[in-house]
Amino acid sequence: MKTIIFPDGFLWGAATSSYQIEGAWNEDGKGVSVWDDICHNKKIVKNRDTGDIACDHYHRYKEDVQLMKDLGLKAYRFSVSWPRIFPSGKGKINVKGVEFYDNLINELLANEIEPVITLYHWDLPVSLHTIGGWESRDVIDSYVEYASFMYDHYGDRVKKWITFNEPLVFTLWFYSFGLYNYKRDIRGGLIASINVNAAHAKAVEIYRQSKNSDGKIGITLNLSPIYPVSSSELDKKAVKYIDGRDNRWFLDPVLKASYPNDMLKLFKVIYNIPPIPKEDLILLENNPIDFLGINNYSCTRVGAKSEEDLTHLEKLINRKKLECREYSEMGLEVCSNGLFDLLTRIDREYNHPLIYITENGMACKDDKNIDGIVQDDDRVNYLKQYLEAVYRAISRGVNLKGYFVWSLMDNFEWIYGYSKKFGLIHINYDTQKRTWKRSAYWYRDVIKTNGYNI
Ligand code: FCB
Repeated sequence: MKTIIFPDGFLWGAATSSYQIEGAWNEDGKGVSVWDDICHNKKIVKNRDTGDIACDHYHRYKEDVQLMKDLGLKAYRFSVSWPRIFPSGKGKINVKGVEFYDNLINELLANEIEPVITLYHWDLPVSLHTIGGWESRDVIDSYVEYASFMYDHYGDRVKKWITFNEPLVFTLWFYSFGLYNYKRDIRGGLIASINVNAAHAKAVEIYRQSKNSDGKIGITLNLSPIYPVSSSELDKKAVKYIDGRDNRWFLDPVLKASYPNDMLKLFKVIYNIPPIPKEDLILLENNPIDFLGINNYSCTRVGAKSEEDLTHLEKLINRKKLECREYSEMGLEVCSNGLFDLLTRIDREYNHPLIYITENGMACKDDKNIDGIVQDDDRVNYLKQYLEAVYRAISRGVNLKGYFVWSLMDNFEWIYGYSKKFGLIHINYDTQKRTWKRSAYWYRDVIKTNGYNI
């Protein structure tokens, strides 16, 4: 048995997002978001579940902060529903929505939990989607107006800001399976990703100019270590391209103020993307981040059968399960060494950035309740392995200062609805009763002792 002790001051947290937990989708003047629209009007989400009520956190935030307090969380990462603040995306502010986050933040601070705000976790005001969503440069201006209001209003109390959650997912991936428009549109997704990076840089710039600029600002990327299925040259090329699309396309702009040349060329050939606007690169150059948030759940295995495959990036992902590996309920490989590889690589190739793990966790079966505790041993094992990888990376000199488990509680898991559960705390959606899982007790002890036995 080995005891792992994390550095003093390590920031232990948990994460959620607005649409996934708040509910109250049309209360107190909130505007409609794209996710309200998707759930109500498109037949995509499993069981036609919606976030209309979700965990009812909008009404139960006090109880939820108490759970966080009992867990001993040092920080809580949550996102703000943009249409709760600006029902039409811009212009008129909704005072009741502003009040909700005031109350939540004040409640957190009264319980000595640091609020960490994600400005955008996918719930775009639908009125901005109608004018083109992230493909439209006008949306950048609305986002900056929203960000600016947020810093001015909450920045006296909130000292860590995240501009976007997982741009890869809501641009390239969502567009590539036609989530918003019912059409596969990878080119649109690429243009959206370029615009999001510009919006990010502007939001950093505005933060530095705001009256409350004494905190830290960063972005959260979902990153994955990419491994070849064999050592063939073709498979190595496949790694380079998927790493280019899923990692470097997002890391390079925010950490090097550039886009990877090989991907620019490839995307020009396959999708005819326009050149990156010069002003975007200048903005990125002038507005570096204070920290990089990393979300990681698994690793990606890739391979190509022919040169031709290399121009169809989707074909390169190997979705076949390997017999010797363990998989989560999401079908994701448990691959904690991958997180170690990823962290040490970013440290090496991107000049030793300050990193927070802003999401990591596991969907697993947890339908057994013994003596009032929901049994989720698989999750505990997963967290043990991943935190050990985090610890090893820190020991190797990676500048990693905190970890946020996904998620505080079970919640609405996007197109999977309520069928996938990631919480430390179980939610009974009929009664809204919160029940601690074994992993919650385990995590509480990790925080208390700043480590654990492995
Ligand atoms: C991430 C999302 C988060 C949650 C987890 C499981 O991609 O950021 O909202 O759905 O996956």
